[in-house]
Amino acid sequence: MAQGYVVLGADHAGYPLKERISAALHEQGYECEDVGTHSTESCDYPEFASRACRRVLEREVPGILICGSGLGMSMSANRFSGIRAALCGTEYAAKMARGHNDANVLCLGARIIGEDLAWAIVEAFLGTGFQGGRHAKRVELMDSLGSS
Ligand code: RB5
Repeated sequence: MAQGYVVLGADHAGYPLKERISAALHEQGYECEDVGTHSTESCDYPEFASRACRRVLEREVPGILICGSGLGMSMSANRFSGIRAALCGTEYAAKMARGHNDANVLCLGARIIGEDLAWAIVEAFLGTGFQGGRHAKRVELMDSLGSS
C-alpha cells in the first residue's frame, strides 16, 4: 500500500531536483505521478503546471512543482480554480502553507534552495495537515473574494 500519492511536475530548471525528490519519495513509500518534463531541454513551465494541477484537482492529491525560481510555477498554478499553490523556501513556510492555508501544491525554486533543504520542505509539507477552524473560513474567503 503506497503511503500517499503525489503529482510531480517541473520545467528544465527544476528537472534534476524533481528526479531527486521523486527518488526520495519512492524510497519513503509514496506513489508518484510525474507529468514531466523529463530532461533538461528548455521547455515552458506553464505547460507542466497545467498538467500537474489538472491531476491534483482530479485525484484530490498534493502536487509539487519545481522551476528555477518557483515563481513561474506558483503563478501558473494559482490560475487554476481550486489550486492553492505555495512557493516555500523554508520548512516553516511549508508547515504554514498546509496548516493555515490548506495548500495543495508546493512550489520550489531549484536555483534558490539546495537538495537537502528542498527535501526537508517536502517532508514538512506532506507531513502537515490542515488545521481547519478559523483557517477554514479564511481559505473559503480566498475563493469568494478572489473571484469578485
Ligand atoms: C527558466 O529559465 C526559468 O525562467 C524558470 O525555471 C522559472 O524560474 C520561471 O519562473
